[in-house]
Amino acid sequence: MRSSVLSLSSARDRSVASALPTRLRPADLLRLTDEGAEDVLAGRYDHLLPADGLWPTEERWATRLIADDEVDVWLISWTPGKSTELHDHAGSLGALTVLSGALSEFRWNGTELRRRTLAAGDQASFPIGWVHDVVRAPAAAESVGPLDPTLSVHAYSPPLSAMSYYEVTGHGTLRRTKTVLTDQPEGDL
Ligand SMILES: [Fe+2]
Repeated sequence: MRSSVLSLSSARDRSVASALPTRLRPADLLRLTDEGAEDVLAGRYDHLLPADGLWPTEERWATRLIADDEVDVWLISWTPGKSTELHDHAGSLGALTVLSGALSEFRWNGTELRRRTLAAGDQASFPIGWVHDVVRAPAAAESVGPLDPTLSVHAYSPPLSAMSYYEVTGHGTLRRTKTVLTDQPEGDL
């Protein structure tokens, strides 16, 4: 009996895996963002960073660290008060690692927006269907100083090509408001 349950489970897992548009899994994306974060901290991407270490203070800023057919990896600098708005990542899986500062994530859990804080070193992955809003956490100002960057590395597979935006209705449901074609991480900057 047990073996038949197991075989059914693995058959289902295989069918789910084959239905996804990428062979990469959340664990792969988490590893890629972790490696990207290490490389940024080690200075391997210094040539892509703002000149003289002057991080933008008004708008979010991003640079693509890796791009190929399967995945794109971005470094994002977050500025206070600039949220992504509530969105998904269309047909892409995603993951992130926070390098410095902290992010607040508000995720739709089916009935409400659930908040969590992701601090330096924290990771998160986003399966298809994940709907969230992300913003620099107010606490980041205390931990790294108001002018220091809040940085995170994000990976998307397949490479991001579209995002849908949502609003929470007055009766506690989610309404999709628009879908845009974009390859910019976490929405247009
Ligand atoms: Fe996102």
